[in-house]
Amino acid sequence: MGFDMKICSIGAGYVGGPTMVIIAEQCPEIQVTVTDVNQQRIDAWNSKNLPVYEPGLDEIVQAIRGRNLFFSTDIDKAIKESDIIFLSVNTPTKTYGEGAGKASDLKFIESAVRRIAQVAKTDKIIVEKSTIPVRTAEKIRKILASNTHGCKFEILSNPEFMAEGTAIQDLKHPDRILIGGSQTESGKEAIKTLSEIYEHWVPKNKIITQCLWSSELSKLAANAFLAQRISSINALSALCEKTGADVDEIAISIGADSRIGSKFLKSSIGFGGSCFKKDLLNLVYLCEYFELPEVAHYWNQVVTMNEYQKHRFSYLVVEKLFHSLAGKKIAVFGFAFKKNTNDTRETPAITICQDLMKEQAQLSICDPKVTPETIKRDLDGFSNYEIQTDPYVAAQGAHAIVILTEWEMFKNLDYKRLYEGMQKPAFVFDGRNIVNLQQLRTLGFEAYGVGKPIAG
Ligand code: UDX
Ligand code: UDX
Repeated sequence: MGFDMKICSIGAGYVGGPTMVIIAEQCPEIQVTVTDVNQQRIDAWNSKNLPVYEPGLDEIVQAIRGRNLFFSTDIDKAIKESDIIFLSVNTPTKTYGEGAGKASDLKFIESAVRRIAQVAKTDKIIVEKSTIPVRTAEKIRKILASNTHGCKFEILSNPEFMAEGTAIQDLKHPDRILIGGSQTESGKEAIKTLSEIYEHWVPKNKIITQCLWSSELSKLAANAFLAQRISSINALSALCEKTGADVDEIAISIGADSRIGSKFLKSSIGFGGSCFKKDLLNLVYLCEYFELPEVAHYWNQVVTMNEYQKHRFSYLVVEKLFHSLAGKKIAVFGFAFKKNTNDTRETPAITICQDLMKEQAQLSICDPKVTPETIKRDLDGFSNYEIQTDPYVAAQGAHAIVILTEWEMFKNLDYKRLYEGMQKPAFVFDGRNIVNLQQLRTLGFEAYGVGKPIAG
């Protein structure tokens, strides 16, 4: 079977996987191969149980896998035959050496690029899909120069803005597609080639093209701005609790101003996910590197506020349960960093569960998608918890329910039934502001939210 073009991704994670699936779905004449060094992950992509949970993803994969969508660990073959290679490996925060704790670790990007330089025998477009520090393309270009087959490489930046839990929606209807490239003739040609792929389903006026450095930095800037909004509303939530104001009402009144906008103003126990903290720290590192300490300090404060918010919530639980959690059972509803994902990277639930267990609480954790193995990995070193699939069992005999993820199922529980099975006084601490506190209070609960007036 002949394809018009062959493309591949190196990295079959939360970004590489869904992104390539949608390209394959929308462009049947393009062969799409998603590769990864992790055999287990590739096996999962080739099975009924995909390694990534995203609403809508499963159906698409089952429909087009084997048509023009392939998952493989044969990275060299994919590199050799592809016209375009997407770099979608992870770029975690560096844990060692220079920049430890802040800078992005580019070792996976580097090894992927070295592999391309070694095995490529034809010209290729290399696309930075992973989030990377500004000016990474320069390093990639230097490594690719070691190719001995005389191949020409064009490097493009094409950051992914989709959010987990809504990945399919976001990929199918993006606010924008951003493509950065060199402003040379061949650079412009490469931008056009990539743009034409997206034009299969994205209106042309939503495709923004820029210089490489603007595109690379835009991804860090977008995540920093989004995270900053959450830290801003969370900072106000603390003041609301002291003054009797309601943070959700503040969000409505300020969000009605079209200059501010209503999205991303939901107060919470803090942001999680693989991106926000990592990208903020990377931005801070870049500012320090370029000797801009005031700018670095400004963005670092967004991270500081997020840490404060998580511990502030843990402390509220300790304080309201009479400063003593030792031996008390607490039902934890939700562990994922947000609803509709099985991802727990940087989930505030880890910090809060650890805080509560350090106070010797006995936790009963319930999440509809996170596997027990993941929870055990994340809470390594602790033993005073159990994992339950049924929230009513988790809350049986508990002193408190603590809601840490905004799953729909936790909104619609029979709280009267939960209350009846619990120790009295029975508490609810809603870290996502998803339940009606007034209604819970009429059932007999002592109920607290984030940035909500404390009942008098
Ligand atoms: C992505 C981005 O790439 C990262 O830059 C962004 O900031 C967060 O999201 P994500 O897809 O979520 O990463 O990461 P992950 O789910 O860990 O997937 C990365 C995959 O790359 C893994 O499956 C890993 O096995 C694979 N990988 C890593 C390779 O195939 N080769 C390597 O050399 C390194
Ligand atoms: C984010 C960006 O939104 C996305 O554009 C980028 O590509 C990757 O990083 P993601 O981390 O998957 O996506 O999810 P997001 O919806 O942004 O949520 C991040 C965290 O912020 C979650 O823990 C969420 O619960 C929290 N959040 C979000 C809030 O606390 N309040 C809000 O109003 C929105």
